[in-house]
Parts: sequence; structure tokens; C-alpha cells
Amino acid sequence: MSQKIQSLSEYFQEYQESIQQPEEFWSRIAKNFHWKKPWDSVLSWNFDGPEVKWFENAQLNITENIFERQLSTHGEKTAILWEPNDPKEPERSISYNELFELTCQFSNALESQGIQKGDRVIIYMPMIPEAAIAMLACARVGAVHSVVFAGFSSTALADRINDCEAKMVLTSDGNFRGAKNIPVKEVVDEALEKTTTVDKVIVYQRTQESVTMKEGRDLWWHELIQSESKEHTAATLDAEDLLFILYTSGSTGKPKGVVHTTAGYMVYTHYSFLNVFQYEQEDVYWCTADVGWITGHSYIVYGPLLAGATTLMFEGVPTYPTAGRFWEIVDKYQVNQFYTAPTAIRALQAYGLEPLEPYSLSSLKVIGSVGEPINEEAWHWYHDHIGKGKCPLVDTWWQTETGGIMISPLAGITPNKPAHASLPLPGIQPILVDAEGNELKGNNVEGNLCIKFPWPSMLRTTYGDHKRCKDTYFSTYPGLYFTGDGAKRDHDGYLRILGRVDDVINVSGHRMGTAEVENAINEHPKVIESAVVGFPHVIKGQGIYAYAICDREGHTDEELIQEIKDTVRKIIGPIAKPDEVQIVPGLPKTRSGKIMRRILRKVASKDISNLGDTSTLLNPEIVDQIINGAGIKNS
Ligand code: PRX
Repeated sequence: MSQKIQSLSEYFQEYQESIQQPEEFWSRIAKNFHWKKPWDSVLSWNFDGPEVKWFENAQLNITENIFERQLSTHGEKTAILWEPNDPKEPERSISYNELFELTCQFSNALESQGIQKGDRVIIYMPMIPEAAIAMLACARVGAVHSVVFAGFSSTALADRINDCEAKMVLTSDGNFRGAKNIPVKEVVDEALEKTTTVDKVIVYQRTQESVTMKEGRDLWWHELIQSESKEHTAATLDAEDLLFILYTSGSTGKPKGVVHTTAGYMVYTHYSFLNVFQYEQEDVYWCTADVGWITGHSYIVYGPLLAGATTLMFEGVPTYPTAGRFWEIVDKYQVNQFYTAPTAIRALQAYGLEPLEPYSLSSLKVIGSVGEPINEEAWHWYHDHIGKGKCPLVDTWWQTETGGIMISPLAGITPNKPAHASLPLPGIQPILVDAEGNELKGNNVEGNLCIKFPWPSMLRTTYGDHKRCKDTYFSTYPGLYFTGDGAKRDHDGYLRILGRVDDVINVSGHRMGTAEVENAINEHPKVIESAVVGFPHVIKGQGIYAYAICDREGHTDEELIQEIKDTVRKIIGPIAKPDEVQIVPGLPKTRSGKIMRRILRKVASKDISNLGDTSTLLNPEIVDQIINGAGIKNS
């Protein structure tokens, strides 16, 4: 039976079935896979622990479901199309048969270097097919991969290595991104000075930069695989064995390692990929994300490959060498499904229509959006000029923690409504609650978005700290998974995501914790205290605004501001660099010492019309000083 929903009535029917009889529903979907041993029970769960188990005691290997299950029908089909950063360099096209051999060969290499089931392997690589091969090879041998976006700094990389006690790092000599050549291996070397658990580093030669190779620790990828066989027997994993850890930012502390397990993630990424994008077997699908983020995991690598799709990987950036690069690629490969982030759309929109002129974009059937709320203007531009008014636009809401798309139109099936993620996928039970956790029933309501029933690809824990998982997601509203987002259900029952309601800033679709940025700023020796908030930004969605109390002696404010920005870049990475830094004489604090962020957000947004009650502040005079310092006229 096809897993693809074909009509709106079928969607409603399947949705009803999925919530009335979830176990029957998911076991029907899961039967399409190859299981080495079937499950004893489909689901056992409680959100108090939390403890969630899908397909308990089943045994499988996700890569057997990508390869062995499909090779007889898809062996010659292109699995990965790769477009290099520099359009003059040759592209690559890798069939399922070839990808299988490359994965097997690298699986053997991992094992010959001592990697065993359960070991953690960090992947810090550019957007090249080998990044996907590295993930698949880890999955094949039962190692747990943790991909770290190659734009993160050595400190951020070291933190992640230490947190999961990784045994190995897979990286490259360098990384081409636009006009830049980033010395990735150097960053790894620096990180490893702050760690003790890594004994092997495998380096893929991408840029031919000369790098230092540490004797006994560092090995060249191409040399290592030479002697390895292209055959490999997949490890047997339990359904709930860890597939990967992916670090993401939250309101407090350091980024946490979101844990995804094997079977549920496999079932759900495949099902959601097919249904949201309505992928058909001859289609070319392109998601522009980086494999360092969950979107890259679920909808460049696992979902598409499990569906036997042709998935395009692009190494570069949207504006290099020209602002028409995305559209050139769409025409070149005749892309049918195109999936990107609102920030990229807004950035390209700013170049006007000229970069689009040479391209027809006529192959496109579906366009998608992910990572942050898409404003109506960007939605219409994308729909009219890229989708030419004829392609359904899937605004997909989901999170690192959810593993797969949760709320989204199904392309061509769910009626499109601008800026609305619209309806939940089968199996997903979202509810809106008020501040006390009371469910807001009916339409025309706005509240905090929670999920009340488990779904197969949900996070199981945060690595090494289960209590943190409970505190972060399952304690605000007992019995519910709290997403951290606010949402509105309109008069038709369609959901519109309003954005984060916690101290997380969504910068260009990247999640940043305010506390994380503050901690980095506080590393600057002249900073006494800081507070970070988000503010509306035309391209990035949200920008980062930092307030810092500093010891100004011997420094001009300009020097301090630049140094603070550089400190954050160095400690976290360029994506966390504040857009604005304001040196302030103090921060507005309540009598209990809590910073009143509401005021800081207002000032950062240059909207001081309604600051609310400031009488409970310990230091109310500071508000005017901050407003004046921000250059806002206080009328
Ligand atoms: O605030 C929501 C926003 O991105 C957050 C999740 O970020 P991350 O874990 O990095 O995953 C991003 C890619 C799945 C959410 O809490 N978000 C994601 N998609 C949307 C969105 N906000 C509005 N509309 C979306 N389609």
C-alpha cells in the first residue's frame, strides 16, 4: 500500500485513524521497512519520565533500509547529486549502488580504526557527499554520529566533543564557502587541545590546503579507504539504540545534545518526506540546509534516501558567485522540490527580480520553507516569483527535538494559506495552552504550542542529562511536550506559528540561546555584566542585540563593541555575533535581581511606546539612560 496521501479527504481520514488508533496506524506504516526482528510492542510511553519507546525490541539497521531494501529497484538511480561551491568545478552524481559501496568502504574504515557500536563520532565537515557517507557509515556500524555545523568555533566544537565523549572526529582540510576558504582542520586541532577523548581524526582532502597531520592521530580519508573492502555487513541495532546526537541551543546553559533513536526516526522521516513533498520517483529534490542542522539530517540525508529519492547537495552559499546561483542550480538539475529557509528568501528578494531573469524554474512542482516564521511578504514573493504562482508552498514547522516535520501543508493537498504552517501531520497531536497549561479549545485562539501524544521521531533524552530533558520540555506543562513556540489557530483551524516565547533567538533560522551569547560576551575581560535579546531584522528574521556593562578604562566604546563582537565570534562562531552592542551604565533589574528583558527587547526593537510598569525596578532611572544610549528619542 502506498504511504502517500492523495487527497484532502484521505488526509482527514488518515489523521483520524492516527489519533484514534496510533499503534495500528504506525505499525501499518512501519511494515514497509525491513526489520531483522519485529517489535514486541509499538509504543510505550509516559511524559513524566519522560520515557518513550517505539517499536520496542525490534531489530534493524537504518542503512539496510536505504540500501539493501531498495537496491534491486533503485540501484542505478541517482541517490546524491552534488553541486560544488565553485560552478566551474565538476559536479558529482552518485547512484544508490555507488553510495552503498562508498558507505560500506567507510564503515570498514571506521571499524578498522576501532569504532564500535555505541561510540560517538563527531562529523565536522563541509557540504560534500562524504558528510552523508560519514553519517551513513556511522549508522551502519552502530556508532552514534554527532554532526557539528562547520561554522562553529573550536570552543563550541570542543564543548560538544567533551559532552558526548567522542572517540573520533571526521573532518576536512578546508571548507569552500562562497569566496572563502575556511581552515577547518585548524579549528579541529585547536578544539582537540581542550579535549581528551578523541584518539583518531580522519581528514577528507577537499581544498588541498596544507595542514598539520598529527602522527598516530590524524589519517587521510583517501588513504584510509584504499585498502578497505566495499562490502560490509550492517550491525544489528535495537529500535531504541541511539542513531545520533545533535546539539541545539535552549534558554539556559550550554547547548544540549538532543538524542534521536533508530526505528522511530526512520519511520517518521520517511513518511513525512513522502507526504509533505509528495515526492514522485523520477523527481529531483533539493533542500538547501546544511547537514549540520536537523533539516540536513532528516530532509537531505535520511528521509529522501529512505524514500529512494534523488537528493541534491549544494556546497556553497546562495549569493556566490551571483545572486542567481540557487535558480541556476534549479534549472541545471531540473529540480522538482525546492526546500529553503525564509532568511534565504528574504536575502534573495532584496536583489530584486533581475537575478531570476535568465532562469525558467519551470521544473519546480513544490516549494518549501523551514526554520522560522515566514512573513507574508516573503511568502508571496516566494510563491509568485519562484513557484510562479503554481507550486504549492509547504511552510513546515518542526524542531531539532521533533526529528521530523510536525505541522505543514501536504503539497497540493492542503489548501495554502500564506504564512500558516496549517495542519498537523498524521500522528501529531498539537494543542495550544494558556500560561497555566489549560487547553485552548476551538478556533481563533492563541497560546503556547504543546504536543500531547508521542510521535515516532521525538527526542528521547538530552545526552548525559535526562533531567535536563524533563525540565526543558516536559515540566512547564506536566503531561505535555512544550515546544517553546507560540501559535495561533485561526477561524479555519489552521495553525500559524508566532515564534519563540522563551529566551531563544532565531537568527536566520539558527537557534541561539540568549544565555549562551551572554556567557560568551562575559568572557571579555572588560565586561562586567551583559544581557542579550532578539529584535526584528529584515533579512535574518531576528537579530542579536547585546547590552553590556563594561569597565571602560583605556578603551573607547567603539573598541569595546568590536572586541565584544569578536569575542562571541571566537567563542561560538560567526552566526552568534551580535548585530548591535550597546555599552550601558546598568541593566534594568527587579528587586529580586532579575533583569527585566521586556524593556530591553522594546529598546532593541526601537519601540518604546509602551514600556509597561517599570515601578518595580530597583533602578528605574536606568531605563531612560538606556533609551538615550540607543539613540531613540524619548517623546
Ligand atoms: O521557533 C521555531 C522555528 O525554529 C525552531 C526550531 O529550531 P531548530 O531546532 O533549529 O530547527 C529548525 C528546523 C526544523 C522552532 O521552535 N521554526 C522552525 N520551523 C518553523 C519555525 N517557526 C515558524 N515556522 C516554521 N515553519
